[in-house]
Amino acid sequence: MGTRKNPVCPIERSGSLDNRIRRWLQNPRKILNPYVKEGMTVLEVGCGPGFFTIDLARMVGNNGRVVAADLQEGMLQKLKEKIQGSEVEHRIILHKCADDKIGVSEKFDFIFLFYMVHEVPNKKAFFNELSSVLKTNGKIYVVEPPFHVSKKDFEESIVKANLSGLIVEARPKLFPNKTALFKKI
Ligand SMILES: C[S@@+](CC[C@H](N)C(=O)[O-])C[C@H]1O[C@@H](n2cnc3c(N)ncnc32)[C@H](O)[C@@H]1O
Repeated sequence: MGTRKNPVCPIERSGSLDNRIRRWLQNPRKILNPYVKEGMTVLEVGCGPGFFTIDLARMVGNNGRVVAADLQEGMLQKLKEKIQGSEVEHRIILHKCADDKIGVSEKFDFIFLFYMVHEVPNKKAFFNELSSVLKTNGKIYVVEPPFHVSKKDFEESIVKANLSGLIVEARPKLFPNKTALFKKI
């Protein structure tokens, strides 16, 4: 992706992000169940082709909604095609981020960042923005891949989040991934 320091996952790889084997290894319901409740407003940044998005939308129910955000139009297009005409279509708002800004203004109960933080070049600005749109008792759940992201890099991301007023509440077990559940100070 041009001069971007951290390359983003290309659209051509979207098939590997959404298939039955992954659903078996990383069941979205199991991963999200402890955090997502009916009626919630959820922000998923880096939704990609929407592996988690449809389950998120089912879990928040008719009174909730999910803002599915990505900086690649092609990823949002794939998700759009998947939800068209489905019962969850009206619960999902597709949002195109800028390279250096998510660009949402409403407040969220839960923010989900799966396998995407390592692709963000300016993590300090990213977590600052997330902190500003997180409700007082809201949570941010970060999951990063095991080999691609070193322990040191992950811990550095946590420090950036801390500087934005976010503290680690838990390290949910999701072997072999690296995880952190944040709340506001
Ligand atoms: C490896 S994919 C993971 C997609 C999805 N979370 C999943 O687990 O299937 C990372 C996604 O994050 C998006 N992304 C990377 N940096 C981003 C940013 N700063 N803002 C929004 N989306 C971003 C990429 O375009 C890509 O779709």
